[in-house]
Amino acid sequence: DRVVVVYGGHSAEREVSLTSGAAVLTSLQRSGVNAVGYDLAEGGLIGLEALAPDRVFIALHGRGGEDGTLQGALELLDIPYTGSGVMASALGMDKERTKALWRALELPTPDSIMLSAESDWSRVCERLGLPLIVKPVHEGSTLGITIVEDAQTLAAAYREASRFDAAVMAERFIQGEEYTLSLLGDRVLPAIRVEVPSGFYDYHAKYHANDTLYHLPCGLDEREEARLGELCRRAFAAIDGRGWGRVDVMRDAQGNFWLLEVNTVPGMTDHSLVPQAARHAGLDFDALVLAILDTARG
Ligand code: DAL
Ligand code: MG
Repeated sequence: DRVVVVYGGHSAEREVSLTSGAAVLTSLQRSGVNAVGYDLAEGGLIGLEALAPDRVFIALHGRGGEDGTLQGALELLDIPYTGSGVMASALGMDKERTKALWRALELPTPDSIMLSAESDWSRVCERLGLPLIVKPVHEGSTLGITIVEDAQTLAAAYREASRFDAAVMAERFIQGEEYTLSLLGDRVLPAIRVEVPSGFYDYHAKYHANDTLYHLPCGLDEREEARLGELCRRAFAAIDGRGWGRVDVMRDAQGNFWLLEVNTVPGMTDHSLVPQAARHAGLDFDALVLAILDTARG
């Protein structure tokens, strides 16, 4: 049984993926699994096929790996892979369509509007209120995201997001606490509350800062945490998510939860959230990696 850990690739999250992939590969080898690593940017699909994997562990973030394209290719090659299938992966990479599905199912998610160069900036601000948040629709790790405090800076925020993606959205900003919930098979792992002294859990706070606080236990009472867990389970099921994933949520001052997005291949670096949640639930990193590998079934 030969496992290939696929990482790297060409997305803006390449560096994060290299770190996730290296951690996963080392862990599998430590567990005695016959595993090799493969940077998709180096040889593409043909090189991957040449390695003759029995299973693929997908440690790619962003477009060209987390977004259903690799999953589709592996389906055609009849090679089992970890995590979500084609549709859930594609939906998870599209924040606006994920939200459209949630709205249809009456799951709470902040109001949002797609932007274009022709958008009426003041109308956008009127509808969503200020501050609001501008995001590339198909991006991860907070790349290209700006919190807009006043209408004058909305156009610049739009241009910044456009550097990453042709599709850009504006979303109502929820003031409050940020939570993340990890799902592993049928298990809902303990919620984590993320607190950032700068106030914004951005790329720097995710991967470089050491003053980001991860509250675990998260501080919610048992009933509230169970309610959050059930909401995230439904949010993940809504896109047909499978295997493992992470749902990011805000909680406003009134205690309402608001779904932000689903990550179908969450970060697996040593700073990352899923490994922390798993550890708190009694699964160390190696056990977590094996549990994720086990989601790759033919
Ligand atoms: N997109 C990054 C890797 C995450 O969700 O953890
Ligand atoms: Mg994300």
